[in-house]
Amino acid sequence: MIRFEQVTKRYADGTTAVDRLSFEVAEGELVTLVGPSGCGKTTTMKMVNRLIEPTEGRIFLDGDDISAIDPVRLRRRIGYVIQQVGLFPHKTILENTATVPHLLGWKRGKARERAAELLDLVGLDPSVHGDRYPEQLSGGQRQRVGVARALAADPPVLLMDEPFGAVDPVVRERLQNEFLRLQARVRKTVLFVTHDIEEAVRLGDRIAVYGQGRIEQFDSPATVLGAPATPYVADFVGADRGLKRLSVTPVEESDLDRPPVVHLDDPLAKATERLRAEGARWAVVLDGDDQLHGWIPAEEASSARTGGTVREHARRMEAWLPLGSPLKQAFATMLQHDAGWIAVVDPESTGRFLGVLTPARLHEALRRSIDADAHDVPRAGVAVETVATVAGP
Ligand SMILES: Nc1ncnc2c1ncn2[C@@H]1O[C@H](COP(=O)(O)OP(=O)(O)OP(=O)(O)O)[C@@H](O)[C@H]1O
Ligand SMILES: [Mg+2]
Repeated sequence: MIRFEQVTKRYADGTTAVDRLSFEVAEGELVTLVGPSGCGKTTTMKMVNRLIEPTEGRIFLDGDDISAIDPVRLRRRIGYVIQQVGLFPHKTILENTATVPHLLGWKRGKARERAAELLDLVGLDPSVHGDRYPEQLSGGQRQRVGVARALAADPPVLLMDEPFGAVDPVVRERLQNEFLRLQARVRKTVLFVTHDIEEAVRLGDRIAVYGQGRIEQFDSPATVLGAPATPYVADFVGADRGLKRLSVTPVEESDLDRPPVVHLDDPLAKATERLRAEGARWAVVLDGDDQLHGWIPAEEASSARTGGTVREHARRMEAWLPLGSPLKQAFATMLQHDAGWIAVVDPESTGRFLGVLTPARLHEALRRSIDADAHDVPRAGVAVETVATVAGP
């Protein structure tokens, strides 16, 4: 969808901002550009919508050389979101959002309808916020308007230059989550600039790690964290990348323990027997459809008088998550519920119970994922020990 071919930008004062840059972004892919200040991220981005012209090399959009496309027409195909959102202060939120449809000559009613739809999409109630002015919104809300406005003409490509850089970390995380949900629906081709490796890892399908004017590594988040291509990248992603990997390593079926399972309507005597036979301290309790209901401790099952069913003695279990969730979420869920284990359910078939994840298994999963990359994806310039010791105690 977007292709850079040997693109160089030298400014008039001789600064080489980017140097023979070549990369390709697939349709519907979200690529984060991350790197220190001044490394050429904004320059890269602005060359895509021709706010800056390359000195050498070519850029293609959907196969077309953009130097041959009229900049105004080009920009209609490209949404642009920047940090200082740049909303018009004297226009309402609805009018701001409808800016591009207006420019495109849409009828007023249709443009406003589209704007309201988009505000809704980014989590702002148009009937509440639509008629307000930008100064009457919080920073996070203004950023959402920026995103809505960029999406207004339904461009296939979005350029986002540190769009969440100016809001506090809590709001930022919320905006990131919302943006991921939004992207899952709209599937734009996105170039997303950030300083923040955490943000790059959370959002990117792939990450381009910039050194000075060059891309040092262009890979999946897991690979960048687990097998940095150069010592520079290793340094940039930081020594705590074992922890960061938590957010990019999914819970897999092989990570799960399989404790004894009983059903709500089982006689208590049968549950007691199961627990005793397996020498377990508790069993998972499922309902008739094999959905997670909760758990039952061994002492509860055996001390109760025989005759009843599991139902009367089962405890509810709130700590669960779908298979494929990141280990970080598993860890957070464990902490939140102060749970010694969490249940893992099938994300596909309406939450069928699959097994449980314990802290020990979580740690194993993390180790496995780091070791796998260290061995399977050897990269020049990085000692394997550097990678393998990250998860050490
Ligand atoms: N108009 C300009 N004239 C001369 N040099 C410029 C110009 N714009 C940017 N530069 C230089 O080009 C280099 C890359 O700048 P760019 O804005 O692309 O960096 P960046 O990675 O976006 O940085 P930041 O994270 O601080 O936004 C820097 O050294 C910068 O000083
Ligand atoms: Mg910049």
